[in-house]
Amino acid sequence: MVQEPILSLKKIEKSFTGVHALKGVDFDLYPGEVHAIVGENGAGKSTLVKTLTGITEKDSGEIVYLGRMFKPRDPKHALEMGIGIIHQELNMMDHLTVAQNIFIGRESLRAGGLLLDERTQNRRAAELFEQLNMTIDPRETLGKLTVGKQQMVEIAKAVSHNLRILILDEPTAALTETEIEELFTIMRDLARRQVGMIYISHRMDEIGRITDRVTVLRDGEYVGTRKTSEVTKREIINMMVGRVIYEQPKTASNVPPEAPVVLKVNRLNAGKLVQDVSFELRKGEILGFAGLMGAGRTETARAIFGADPVQSGSIEIHGRRVRVNTPADAVAHGVGYLSEDRKRYGLALGLSVKENAVLATYESFQKRLFVQAKKVERATAEYVEKLSIKTPSLNQILRNLSGGNQQKVVIAKWLIRNSDILIFDEPTRGIDVGAKSEIYALMNELAQSGRSIIMISSELPEVLRMSDRIIVMCEGRITGELDIAEANQEEIMKYATMREAGVA
Ligand SMILES: Nc1ncnc2c1ncn2[C@@H]1O[C@H](COP(=O)(O)OP(=O)(O)OP(=O)(O)O)[C@@H](O)[C@H]1O
Ligand SMILES: [Mg+2]
Repeated sequence: MVQEPILSLKKIEKSFTGVHALKGVDFDLYPGEVHAIVGENGAGKSTLVKTLTGITEKDSGEIVYLGRMFKPRDPKHALEMGIGIIHQELNMMDHLTVAQNIFIGRESLRAGGLLLDERTQNRRAAELFEQLNMTIDPRETLGKLTVGKQQMVEIAKAVSHNLRILILDEPTAALTETEIEELFTIMRDLARRQVGMIYISHRMDEIGRITDRVTVLRDGEYVGTRKTSEVTKREIINMMVGRVIYEQPKTASNVPPEAPVVLKVNRLNAGKLVQDVSFELRKGEILGFAGLMGAGRTETARAIFGADPVQSGSIEIHGRRVRVNTPADAVAHGVGYLSEDRKRYGLALGLSVKENAVLATYESFQKRLFVQAKKVERATAEYVEKLSIKTPSLNQILRNLSGGNQQKVVIAKWLIRNSDILIFDEPTRGIDVGAKSEIYALMNELAQSGRSIIMISSELPEVLRMSDRIIVMCEGRITGELDIAEANQEEIMKYATMREAGVA
């Protein structure tokens, strides 16, 4: 590239109490380039881009932007200067309209600056969407849009500020396949307009498809930068974790035929997305649930867990019919649910690692009304170690942990509770490759020790690698059931797109 970079980061340093998050990181970005930043959970990716937008103040180092030293005061300042960020977790105003969100803080005014000119604002938003080929109604309330559309609104908002750099921190984590395609189309369009993009993701295939270069961070250190076209997935992973990880599909079930049924779901109906769902889960089994987004897998899990009302059908646990009206009922019957949306259901971000880890299990640590602090501490420490949760102490507030490490705390929570039927809903979403294989090993260990697992996953390689048996859902119904020995990606996709259920 003969051009000058639009952005150069030099020797960026950042420490939090007890954590050296960035240890002299270098990074540069050219106009029209998509540059990935990859690394394990807690490597410092989010922190690096936060120093660029003034969310986090760096301790030392230089930011050179458009040939000049740049010191962002806050995200608003950065955005005015042409640097926009789409966060790992979206943060906009759900109750405002799309256009209001885009123009927040700089509303079009009328009548001498006293009245908000909604019409002008809506028109400008509509123009913006047209320019970006997005089909979104500016007057719609933001909260009513899908996550994918909300993200597009955030991008449009950034573009409305003479955008030079767009930062995307795990933008696809909650998107459907179609939404990911739409996002990539928009990114390619922005690249043609010379916008430089920083793309953070744990999904190697996406990095291969959309980025020009890849920079690897490990433990806050800069490891290196490669051209995407000249590097293999394996090489990148090696740079990230410093070791080789092998991904092998399972070829045969580990569950003996005489293993007892621990959970029997019979003709369950709950809303539109759970229709006549029947299946059995055996002791020691990992039962994969495959399907496209919206197939009804999460809804099935929530119904079994008592999180959503059930219209009809029955649930048997260890051969006994049980009533599960609330999650507390499910927990009492030994069922644990690791939700796909850890922020909303799984965790209390304002509490410490320790408090979160025992959230589901407080009563078992209470003895005549006083909490056995030592016991709580020991159990938590054990799983922090087992799951390699990266935290300076058990008292760290969860919000300060990296996204992937928060996910591991949810897992620890249910393991400490000793649940013997575990529902893992997208367990490795947002989790780096190294931690992924740790979680896989852990799931296998759990199954071997006699626990039973329902694993909902949208990643087919993961389904094929982990499951003993696979159930496929489509539009609220079970459309197929495959033994692992006969399963492959094509076969699963066939059932996942089968509109009419076969004879049940
Ligand atoms: N506000 C904060 N206070 C204390 N520690 C923090 C804070 N923000 C980040 N950290 C710590 O800094 C390290 C780097 O975190 P960062 O969020 O940058 O990781 P990441 O590479 O984005 O990881 P992930 O892939 O899990 O999102 C982690 O150990 C994290 O716990
Ligand atoms: Mg992050």
